[in-house]
Amino acid sequence: MRTMNYKIFMKSIVAGVLASMVFSASASETVEVYKSPTCGCCSKWVDHLKDHGFKVNEHDVGNKEARARAGISPSLGSCHTALVGGYAIEGHVPARDIKRLLREQPKAVGLAVPDMPHGSPGMEGKRNDPYDVLLVKQKGDQRRDASIYSSYNTPEQIRFK
Ligand code: CU
Ligand code: CU
Repeated sequence: MRTMNYKIFMKSIVAGVLASMVFSASASETVEVYKSPTCGCCSKWVDHLKDHGFKVNEHDVGNKEARARAGISPSLGSCHTALVGGYAIEGHVPARDIKRLLREQPKAVGLAVPDMPHGSPGMEGKRNDPYDVLLVKQKGDQRRDASIYSSYNTPEQIRFK
């Protein structure tokens, strides 16, 4: 009887720890976003993150300094830089890639979508240009050093948010 209760007790502890791990590695994270106050597509990307359950802290001071501090090369640059869970996020990265990053915890600086591809989250419009989300492994890595983390090729993939 004693062992039985102990087992149930341990099981509930393990379940609780696992649940809190899953919870902490997902949408309850606060994203610190560095952007220009006049950037419309930045605000739309912030809305996209909120739609997917992230809390967002906006810093309307531009993103060049934040990007440099995070170790993201200007060759990977876009209009905003964000920090979440110890990672840097450059540009219009879809929320689902950020969630995957936080779940999988790779050894990396973060993710980047260089420039501002038409159709990416926050850049919705008539055009849907294929784009890749890049994994930036080390600080200062150039665009050519980064590997492809995910690809959005068809209009259906690009529009699916
Ligand atoms: Cu933008
Ligand atoms: Cu932006």
